[in-house]
Amino acid sequence: MKVAVAGTGYVGLVTGVCLAEVGHDVTCMDIDEYKINMLKKGISPIYEPGLDPFIQQNIQSGRLFFTTDAKEAYRNKEIIIVAVGTPENEDGSANLSYIQKVVKDIVENINGPLILVTKSTVPVGTNDQIQEWITEWNVRQYPIEVVSNPEFLREGSAIHDTFHGDRIVIGANSREASAQVARLYEPFHIPIVQTSIRSAEMIKYAANAFLATKISFINEIANICEKVGANIEDVAYGIGLDQRIGPHFLKAGIGYGGSCFPKDTKALVQIAGNVQHQFELLEAVIKVNNKQQVKLVKKAKQIFGSLNGKKCAILGLSFKPNTDDVREAASIVMAKELVKEGAAVVGYDPIAIDNAKSVLGDSIQYAHSIEEAVQNADIALIATEWEEIKQFPLRKYVELMKTPYVFDGRNCYSLEEIKKYRLKYYSIGRN
Ligand code: UDX
Repeated sequence: MKVAVAGTGYVGLVTGVCLAEVGHDVTCMDIDEYKINMLKKGISPIYEPGLDPFIQQNIQSGRLFFTTDAKEAYRNKEIIIVAVGTPENEDGSANLSYIQKVVKDIVENINGPLILVTKSTVPVGTNDQIQEWITEWNVRQYPIEVVSNPEFLREGSAIHDTFHGDRIVIGANSREASAQVARLYEPFHIPIVQTSIRSAEMIKYAANAFLATKISFINEIANICEKVGANIEDVAYGIGLDQRIGPHFLKAGIGYGGSCFPKDTKALVQIAGNVQHQFELLEAVIKVNNKQQVKLVKKAKQIFGSLNGKKCAILGLSFKPNTDDVREAASIVMAKELVKEGAAVVGYDPIAIDNAKSVLGDSIQYAHSIEEAVQNADIALIATEWEEIKQFPLRKYVELMKTPYVFDGRNCYSLEEIKKYRLKYYSIGRN
């Protein structure tokens, strides 16, 4: 099929490349010339393991194109997928201005009938709003049908998730449009849920809210485990074997971050509020997460009294391993708190330092290695479970730190191992 994808962020780029890989003819459009020039050379502007070779192969096979020209992108296409950002407004609602602009561009540049697929995460009712905009702007009267097709891929495993997703959700007003979008995904052999537009929009928010709830739930259980002398890992394993609960998303830590959960949970509270429903459970999930992100700093303050002048090393700055994304990362929240307390903070990450710098600037220092970060430190705080951090030998903390206090926010080390070293070690939900 002839497809265009508007927006070359995580979702748009990965979707475009994977659709080309299964044989579709795909043009990716972005207004950012720098990004498009990189992509034309086969270089991904985002860090995503395995993506570059995929881009190069598909450019070479003549199925994948990149452009900043709306005409070139949108003419002669059967399906156009909208995958631009919906950042958070100050009040927690989703900002739809990028979507609005892209839809206008599409309507003004197409030269035939079209199915416009919304992949961006948008509040319930937005696709109906898009259909209204189209009616207003579509002076040439080409038939355009809007279809909702939310995305569930995770950063760091985006390609794998696209090929091995649990489901594809298609929300449409007509069977024909739904069937045509289903045809686009046929080569992936993934179960397809065909439903109404509003249900599809809701599935995306409900899925993210549920996963965030699992995380805040297990984090609260971990907080109680610490106090009653239970071990969260055994507890999570024990409950996860119950098939009604399942083993996933039960890893206790210092909370969820990233570009989706924090934004989408707040947006769903807002969506509910708009229809006079107070989503109290989700409000609590968000509150628990906010507390969890500063838990280790609070603990360190309790132990040291004051953190003023203490050298604190934050190990891992991205919101999770295998990504350079620091959006809403616990590390950033912790760094800001520590700086407020007067600590001298040094951060280390295998790949996210540039992004961390753009948020934290020179309020903290940055190290080139774990060794350099923990050298002479009073406190080491593990914020992200990068493999390199998990494998860092415990004896090195003892050798290099001024006082070996390790606060492990991701339970990277086994308690058995810890016992062998003269370390002060605090983790989540374990004593
Ligand atoms: C998430 C959803 O998984 C994906 O379906 C959606 O499309 C976008 O949002 P992503 O943000 O890439 O994907 O990361 P994910 O792997 O889900 O992790 C999110 C956060 O939750 C991370 O900060 C991670 O550390 C945390 N997490 C995850 C936990 O603390 N414990 C867990 O058990 C799982």
